[in-house]
Amino acid sequence: MRRKMAAGNWKMNGTQASLEVLDRLKTAHVDSSCDIVICPPNPLLIPAADRCTGSSVAIGAQDCHAEFKGAFTGDTSAEMIADSGATYAIVGHSERREAYGDTDAQVCAKANAVQNGGLVAIVCIGESLTQREAGEALPVLKSQLAGSVPAGSNGANLVVAYEPIWAIGTGKIPTLDQIAEVHMALREELVGRFGAEGGNIRLLYGGSVKPGNAADIFATSDVDGALVGGASLKAEDFSPIIDALATS
Ligand code: 13P
Repeated sequence: MRRKMAAGNWKMNGTQASLEVLDRLKTAHVDSSCDIVICPPNPLLIPAADRCTGSSVAIGAQDCHAEFKGAFTGDTSAEMIADSGATYAIVGHSERREAYGDTDAQVCAKANAVQNGGLVAIVCIGESLTQREAGEALPVLKSQLAGSVPAGSNGANLVVAYEPIWAIGTGKIPTLDQIAEVHMALREELVGRFGAEGGNIRLLYGGSVKPGNAADIFATSDVDGALVGGASLKAEDFSPIIDALATS
């Protein structure tokens, strides 16, 4: 049985004042049946993790360098993320693939570093609108999955997030049938590669998840939760999404 997960990616939003969202989430979701994760910008990792110690809310980073340490100005290692008290790291988000040119191989190396650092990797994959319209979504996603997921992955150290690029921040989402088709294909790939353990790896949907569409998305087969951007910035938006997941 896979534990459901509601993960929030704050992207480059938030200051210390935003951490009151965490107080509201941990108060509203004591003993939640779902894993709740917030991924704030790096300067907030330590205060966020401190604030959530012993609560139902876990903290994650939004990226992680593949190397353990060294001359990589501006970057953050898995050791540093773990030392901050965070327990997750997103890698391979389409915004980083697009803006920084992260390839599948680089994402895989980052995910490997995350896992070796004792953290859970949330590996993102997603097709562009052009790829979707050309009927290439499934092959593109399978290729991204194969290239981005490290060999040592299992249900405890890997979460996969399917985020169609054209659904991020646009208010558009795929049809529920399209989400189900993708998640079923990803599950088959994971089981094909990791055997029964592939059935333990959680699959999140991400892209314009809101309180109004969350219940329908969570009722879709093989959707174990969501990776939420904009609607994770406010407790009044993210809380109902967590509630919809808990009751799905
Ligand atoms: P939105 O929920 O704002 O569409 O962002 C999704 C996302 O990119 C989460 O990583």
